[in-house]
Amino acid sequence: MNAADLLWGVFPYIVLTIFIGGHIYRYQKDQFGWTTKSSEFLEKKWLRIGSTLFHWGILFVFAGHIMGLIVPVALYNSLGVSQHFYHNMAIIFGVPAGIAALVGLVLLYWRRVSVKRIKATTTTGDWLTLIFLGLVIVTGLTATGMNVDSHGFDYRTTIAPWLRGLFVFNVQPELMQTVPIWFKIHIYASFALYVIWPFTRLVHVFSFPLRYLRRSYVIYKRRVPVKKMG
Ligand code: HEM
Repeated sequence: MNAADLLWGVFPYIVLTIFIGGHIYRYQKDQFGWTTKSSEFLEKKWLRIGSTLFHWGILFVFAGHIMGLIVPVALYNSLGVSQHFYHNMAIIFGVPAGIAALVGLVLLYWRRVSVKRIKATTTTGDWLTLIFLGLVIVTGLTATGMNVDSHGFDYRTTIAPWLRGLFVFNVQPELMQTVPIWFKIHIYASFALYVIWPFTRLVHVFSFPLRYLRRSYVIYKRRVPVKKMG
């Protein structure tokens, strides 16, 4: 087994095992700590701006990753979407989304350092979350920046089938051979994030309150003072 097999064939499964196992462990051991750990009551204004920018940015980045890595290039080809058009769209939508997420994250970081009460309640896990998220976003933007040239490298025929292969146990490390280093650094930065993920507030990503959408209304009524008789 060579280094490429280890890096792109073995380590991804170690990371995935820690990610899934970590979530099961956390759920068993710390169900009541499974939360966003909101700090809204300590500071509202910067949270609203930073958090909104970050979450909207990440949502678009996530959608972009699904379109580039999960949807096979053959589908785009059959729809007549050229590589040139796809690449331009990925940059026009991907870069602003990545920058919004980064600016949001920097605001959230700055808020944590500058608001005393928040700094005091910030755990090591919270700092690591901010740092690793920042690292993944910066390396992602760097990879995109290094590949702006439309004749550049096409990740939809290399990274994408490698990634999809992992999920169906069709391991193909050789697909990563020609991938530029910036993308490799980005993927490994994301691996580091997945390893800490289950032990941080990031677990809230899997707690979207679906039941909330279907639950019956909570009825609030004005309390009418009872008139004294007699
Ligand atoms: C195994 C997991 C991942 C892979 C294989 C991957 C792959 C890629 C690729 C191929 C690009 C270039 C897109 C382009 O230039 O059009 C990219 C960009 C980017 N990635 Fe990732 N990524 C992964 C995880 C993540 C995660 C977890 C985040 C965020 C937390 C992230 C954030 C970004 C950002 C901000 C960019 C810059 C362009 C954009 O906004 O889409 N990536 N990634």
